[in-house]
Amino acid sequence: MNDLQERSDLLDELLEQTPQSVALIGADNLIVQVNPEFTRLFGYTQEECRDRTLHELIVPVELQDAAAAFSNLVLPGHRVDVEVERQRKDGSRVHVLSVSFRIKSVGGVRLCVTHRDITRRKLSEIGLRALSAKLMRAHETERRRLACELHDEIGQQLTGLQVLLGRGLYHQATSEPMQTRIDEARSIVDNLFVRVRNLSCDLRPVELDHLGLLPALLTHIERYSQRTAIQVSFDHHGIDRRFDSRVETAAFRIVQESLTNCARHSGVDRVNVSVWAATETLNIRIDDRGCGFVPTEVLGSRGSGIFGMRERVRLLGGLFTVESVKTAGATITAQLPLTDPPTAEPAASTHANLDSTRG
Ligand SMILES: Nc1ncnc2c1ncn2[C@@H]1O[C@H](COP(=O)(O)OP(=O)(O)OP(=O)(O)O)[C@@H](O)[C@H]1O
Ligand SMILES: [Mg+2]
Repeated sequence: MNDLQERSDLLDELLEQTPQSVALIGADNLIVQVNPEFTRLFGYTQEECRDRTLHELIVPVELQDAAAAFSNLVLPGHRVDVEVERQRKDGSRVHVLSVSFRIKSVGGVRLCVTHRDITRRKLSEIGLRALSAKLMRAHETERRRLACELHDEIGQQLTGLQVLLGRGLYHQATSEPMQTRIDEARSIVDNLFVRVRNLSCDLRPVELDHLGLLPALLTHIERYSQRTAIQVSFDHHGIDRRFDSRVETAAFRIVQESLTNCARHSGVDRVNVSVWAATETLNIRIDDRGCGFVPTEVLGSRGSGIFGMRERVRLLGGLFTVESVKTAGATITAQLPLTDPPTAEPAASTHANLDSTRG
């Protein structure tokens, strides 16, 4: 057996045995060869694939444009690495990790496209995301319930007690020591009243449900400045209107958590907050010029603030960034889509990695 034959046999053996689905594509994007794993994954035999395009066989109709865009990147030499949905011969869908790369034209083959079935991982990711969304909703509902209970029930009772101690008992007190004791009781109730109102506001300000994002932020920022002595420069534009309640809640929580982080960690006495609505997104930016931190170093930290903000934005299909350098402050930005936020079960994401190191 000559050397060439041996190498050809080795290649055939590799294609036969590899657990990855492989399709070799020739001129005009027609399939030249597929391996047994391709047949197992997508249901098409080598015969059925011959002189057909991968797009017509396995790309769902709504993803044809995206697939064409990826192909256009591969031909100049980029390696395209993408998690997508593909379609089997029987019409069922499969989540795959698809890696496409150009190869030197040998026997008319120009491209190699490999697929690995990641359906199980994708489904558990989707399940986890749905669970995370459910937990966040339950958490907000519980906070809303407790805030209402404190504000309406306990607050009302304390108001009643204030009135009773003030107008009623104080005037009926027959001695000065008795009046002094009642005065003390009144000041305890006053303090309690403020604490209950603050607690209720921290849990979930009533403005957020009844009046919207802007009144809730204005109230929160005013209370924050009073409590922390940190001056907040608040710029806003186009947010004096109602948004989807999931967007309003996420935006409020992001500003709330970022301001809390400033007070706890940054060491500054002023912070900038900007919130503005564009045509398709609600944009948030909080920046301070404090001690800063290295974002990658806090990835595994026990804190849940940054993680929670990121998760809220991800569930709405938005973009979230943390930029910070030690000693040079921190900037948090979020873009929340205003159109059609995903429902409880977000669609599988399509993410692409382009590796342009290959020639
Ligand atoms: N504005 C900031 N300036 C300086 N360091 C910050 C700032 N924001 C966050 N950090 C750093 O990032 C870490 C993680 O923040 P994160 O909000 O996730 O957790 P935490 O604030 O420590 O705890 P939690 O928010 O769960 O109560 C903080 O512990 C702090 O070291
Ligand atoms: Mg925090």
